[in-house]
Amino acid sequence: MNKILDVISDEMKRAFVAAGYSKELGKVTLSNRPDLCEYQCNGAMAGAKQYKKAPIMIAQEVAGELTASEIFEEVSAVAPGFLNLKLKPKFLRDYLLQMSHEPKFGLDMPVKPKKIVIDYGGPNVAKPLHVGHLRSAIIGESIKRIARYAGHEVIGDIHLGDWGLQMGLIVTELEERFPELPYFDESFQGEYPKEAPFTISELEEIYPLASGKSKEDAEYRTKAMNATFKLQNGERGYRALWQHILDVSVADLKKNYRNLNVEFDLWKGESDVHDLIPHMVEDMKAGGYAYISEGALVVDVKEETDTKEIPPCMILKSDGAALYNTTDLATIRERMDQIHPDELIYVVDKRQDLYFEQVFRCARKTKLVEPETELKFLGFGTMNGKDGKPFKTREGGVMRLESLLTEINEEMYKKITDNRTVDEDEARDIARIVALSAVKYGDLSNQASKDYIFDIDRFTSFEGDTGPYILYTIVRIKSILSKYKDMGGSLVEVMLQEPASESEKGLMLQLVSFNAMMESANEEIAPHKVCSYIYDLANAFNHFYHETKILTEEDPVRKEGFIALLVLTRDILETCIEVLGFQAPERM
Ligand code: ARG
Repeated sequence: MNKILDVISDEMKRAFVAAGYSKELGKVTLSNRPDLCEYQCNGAMAGAKQYKKAPIMIAQEVAGELTASEIFEEVSAVAPGFLNLKLKPKFLRDYLLQMSHEPKFGLDMPVKPKKIVIDYGGPNVAKPLHVGHLRSAIIGESIKRIARYAGHEVIGDIHLGDWGLQMGLIVTELEERFPELPYFDESFQGEYPKEAPFTISELEEIYPLASGKSKEDAEYRTKAMNATFKLQNGERGYRALWQHILDVSVADLKKNYRNLNVEFDLWKGESDVHDLIPHMVEDMKAGGYAYISEGALVVDVKEETDTKEIPPCMILKSDGAALYNTTDLATIRERMDQIHPDELIYVVDKRQDLYFEQVFRCARKTKLVEPETELKFLGFGTMNGKDGKPFKTREGGVMRLESLLTEINEEMYKKITDNRTVDEDEARDIARIVALSAVKYGDLSNQASKDYIFDIDRFTSFEGDTGPYILYTIVRIKSILSKYKDMGGSLVEVMLQEPASESEKGLMLQLVSFNAMMESANEEIAPHKVCSYIYDLANAFNHFYHETKILTEEDPVRKEGFIALLVLTRDILETCIEVLGFQAPERM
């Protein structure tokens, strides 16, 4: 379905042509003075030079061509040459009616859907999730859902950090503590136990301790590096122990991501591509791309147009060990072979942007990808505390994701039970749903690349640009609709009517831009556009709600028109929060 701005622009273009001017001048935009008009066209200003005429004269002539327009109720030429526009109520109603019958409210589907892999989440096995991982999960999940809604085939891959030194560190510490376990007995031939010899909490205690020790104790560090090497090269006992670490850790991660309403299609990790590395390295050497520099194997990735120094991409260290790069490159190769994506999107901390520049260049140069494969890095900023510094616990430690969510759930629970008696279980459920909207909306409403301040008080507020405000609005609509049903009304047989008040028209004007908004949120990989859209939409709805007696309206046709408008507003709001990755409760 054509976007409303395109429909209006076409009408305006016809008028420019009819008045003897070029078609290009007829582009219409949203009004930047909503107090004066709904849309505007600045084409007369742009055409003044070309036609050597005062812009106001051009504007008046064009306006003269639109007096019988079916689209515009008002076209006024105002000094120095703007065209201020208002829509006919009937045109607005008809457009909205068509939207409500089209799939996805008239969002056009791509002629050739893309296959996209999104690499997000990126937690490290055996390390607790912290707030840094929160952003990748929230943003990645949302862009995945937006791209899917826009008609593309999208595969989300968590890309676990499960192959590096941290694994060797844990193995080493376990060996110090339990040397009698069969995993450390090289002559052991039997089957290893099915149960892991540790729990997730033990694992989470072991990793930071081992990491601390290795920084102080060179011998311990060497041991850990050896253990990593042996593990990667297939030492049977170490592999079995590693599998336990992975299983215990992944079970815990799944629980955490489920609580966040984040779902991955693939739970692959760095370890999965280990066996592809030798072949990839051979090809890079054979193609003449990789060479030895100071013992290490590298690929040059600098380009003549670079304004800053882009160091070579290191493929293997001098001891032959693979690096973070190596697994990322091999993963690209695996994804190309198995999935054949048109596009790869990485949602990672923006401090890794140089790293991804190197990896992407190397992948292109060594032909791991097709020339037309798109490689995109969506780098996000840091989540800061109110002091403007990276978010910490009250004691100054790294904030665990679970603690953060517990804290915000509690805060929400308090707000929900304040001055009200709600059933304990129900209040807990509602608190969880609303708290998630607070965290996700608080994050997504900022442009991803920017740092932002995590402010519990602001995010959990029911007023202002927050998730709870959006949910509150949806719940308000749902409650009116359910009262209407209780009064014997049906939600399906209602028919949208022409707007009869400013506030009703204002709400309709917000609704009609849904498809254009969703299209640009997808094209620009910008969930914040969905947030700012629903904030405006919720405001427009609440304004309408305060100005209008909905259920007590006496004219049955008008009343049904209101109900139809509410249904559409609810559906569009719920579609938007669904792509943002949260939901609304039935009551609040
Ligand atoms: N595990 C990494 C970290 O915690 C993030 C992984 C990002 N994705 C990737 N393909 N490199 O920093």
